[in-house]
Amino acid sequence: MSVLGVGIVGCGTISSRYFGNAASFQGIEIRACADVMDAAARRTAEQYDVRCESVDSLLRADDIQLIVNLTIPAAHFDVSATALQAGKHVYSEKPLAATSAEGRELVESAARLGLRLGTAPDTFLGAAGQAARRALDEGRIGRVVGGSCHCLSHGAESWHPNPDFLYQEGGGPMLDLGPYYVTMLVNLLGPVASVTAHAATPFATRKIGSGPRSGEMIAVETPTTVHCILSFECGALVTFSASWDVWRHGHNNIEIYGEAGSMLVPNPNFFGGEVAVSEWDGPFVAAPDDCHPFARGNRKMRTGTVVADYRISGLADMAAALVAGRPHRCDGTMGLHVLEVLENILLSARDSRVVEVKTRCLRPAALGAAEARALMGGDTVASA
Ligand SMILES: NC(=O)c1ccc[n+]([C@@H]2O[C@H](COP(=O)([O-])OP(=O)(O)OC[C@H]3O[C@@H](n4cnc5c(N)ncnc54)[C@H](O)[C@@H]3O)[C@@H](O)[C@H]2O)c1
Repeated sequence: MSVLGVGIVGCGTISSRYFGNAASFQGIEIRACADVMDAAARRTAEQYDVRCESVDSLLRADDIQLIVNLTIPAAHFDVSATALQAGKHVYSEKPLAATSAEGRELVESAARLGLRLGTAPDTFLGAAGQAARRALDEGRIGRVVGGSCHCLSHGAESWHPNPDFLYQEGGGPMLDLGPYYVTMLVNLLGPVASVTAHAATPFATRKIGSGPRSGEMIAVETPTTVHCILSFECGALVTFSASWDVWRHGHNNIEIYGEAGSMLVPNPNFFGGEVAVSEWDGPFVAAPDDCHPFARGNRKMRTGTVVADYRISGLADMAAALVAGRPHRCDGTMGLHVLEVLENILLSARDSRVVEVKTRCLRPAALGAAEARALMGGDTVASA
């Protein structure tokens, strides 16, 4: 089994999930990390027993084939572009870049250089995303005609120690959490053709609620409530509300409406949860999760709830795909399409008009339980 060397750039909040989950997957080994903040890189290297490097030396390291870009969205393009130029395959946290123009440049340069470009979110590879995909592909609710998504909370400044980027251009609920919803929808329904939206920014400032900067006020520079309609190429119309101005609500995360029934899909920010399907107007019944390995709870949240979080599975799939010479699922082309959809939602809200989406992507191949287990070093199966 070939093992590819991974270098992490960006040793902030989310890096612990990548370091924590890496050992659960085969074919990848995190060997080094780097950060513009030397102290963050040193602390992380010590904690996880990997080499601490400068970004430059990490990109030159012979034992590193894959760079994982965990920097803030504003830095995604520079870090990913430089890594590609250095001859490394790149897997980036979402969004792929701060703008679709930058995202397109990354996709084109990866193609030109013959390198893989992958991007989070990989949560659609989870047990729930795949159970929903299977139910749709088996025709359980027939042709999809519509849906609704709700991603509503009061933001992350109460727990994130450095939430500035979340309230700057490139952040906000649409660009920060929208990728999970839109990627899940693209996995289920295929690409989006056009969008229309309205947006608001009810609060001009936010107060940091944890860490050394607790109590500090930060400016809000991007809409924090966005309501939109996604018109999919397959004909389905899906409403999507994303807000950080809501304390409580009673909506489901994702509902999909078909000709022959409806489907509920749990929070696409995680890998598990129950998918439920109704036959016509009958009761919702849990869809089988096929004993998918990404269903098992492995992360305790601040609230005490245990969730399934297999972040890095998209990178493991990309590494396996590279070795097998097949397409990887968290593909940059899909990341670019999702980014353009999100960007156009904000554009539509700004200009009060319908905005066409120019990019297209294929639905990624489904990831069955056996293949997911194989990514984790279990029984091996032929690649999709
Ligand atoms: N925090 C979460 O719960 C979460 C969850 C999923 C995805 N993400 C995504 O992960 C990414 C990082 O988020 P985070 O919350 O860990 O942010 P963070 O601010 O906690 O960490 C980002 C790190 O990147 C470093 N950095 C910034 N620019 C850099 C550059 N040019 N070169 C090298 N290092 C650089 C910073 O010094 C910092 O240590 C974002 O794209 C975010 O959308 C975060």
